[in-house]
Amino acid sequence: MPRTVDVVLTADTVNAVRLAGATALVIDVLRASTSIITAFANGAACVVPVETVEDARARRSTLGPGTLLAGERDGDAPEGFDLGNSPREFTPEHVRGRTIVLTTSNGTRALAAARPAAAVAVAGFINATAVASWARAHIGDVVVICAGTLGAPSLEDEACGGWLAELIARDCPDAVLTPAAQAAREVGLTYGKDLERLARDARHAQQLVRKGHGGDVAVCLALDTTTVVPTLVPGVDKLVWGSQ
Ligand code: MLT
Repeated sequence: MPRTVDVVLTADTVNAVRLAGATALVIDVLRASTSIITAFANGAACVVPVETVEDARARRSTLGPGTLLAGERDGDAPEGFDLGNSPREFTPEHVRGRTIVLTTSNGTRALAAARPAAAVAVAGFINATAVASWARAHIGDVVVICAGTLGAPSLEDEACGGWLAELIARDCPDAVLTPAAQAAREVGLTYGKDLERLARDARHAQQLVRKGHGGDVAVCLALDTTTVVPTLVPGVDKLVWGSQ
């Protein structure tokens, strides 16, 4: 059972030393973590998160044909990419059995920041109950890492992080929530049962709607639509789900 639960609001403020021996949950609700979870729910074999567009192109050339390039900059797929960062593009037809190299503005940076942790899983509203239960099975500290947006906290990530802190603490009464986790829990309790309100209040959700991605907001701000919990294979930098 977890000893403490912390919530870090941006990828840039992760303390690598603090992650040693800890369990990390990485959140980028809009949209990277939701897209990764959806890719596995639809049969992807593995996701390789990388930080830059150049790294993504280089990794694809080493991984060979059949590898998909996915991600975004300013919300759109970079030139030559097979997929953007919309969870609705990660369909079974596109991703089943495939390796996906993914780079996004914030989500894949948050995954990179989580590397020093002993165990890392990808979290969102869509797998909240399943990922909280995965975290509860680990001993020690749980650190919830919110990607945020270009160095600033994101309401939707904090709300999801706080909702996860609540779910973990509810069944682990001895777990201590840090002050940051307690503050996030308040946000999570406000929005976790009213995700439509979150869609109205979150600036990134409004931006996605303006860019014509309102359908993505609906997919990302939905609770417990899957039990898939992607995890990072230590030392290899690839995400898998289940026994793959
Ligand atoms: C990110 O990683 O910054 C996001 O997933 C951006 C997006 O909405 O595509």
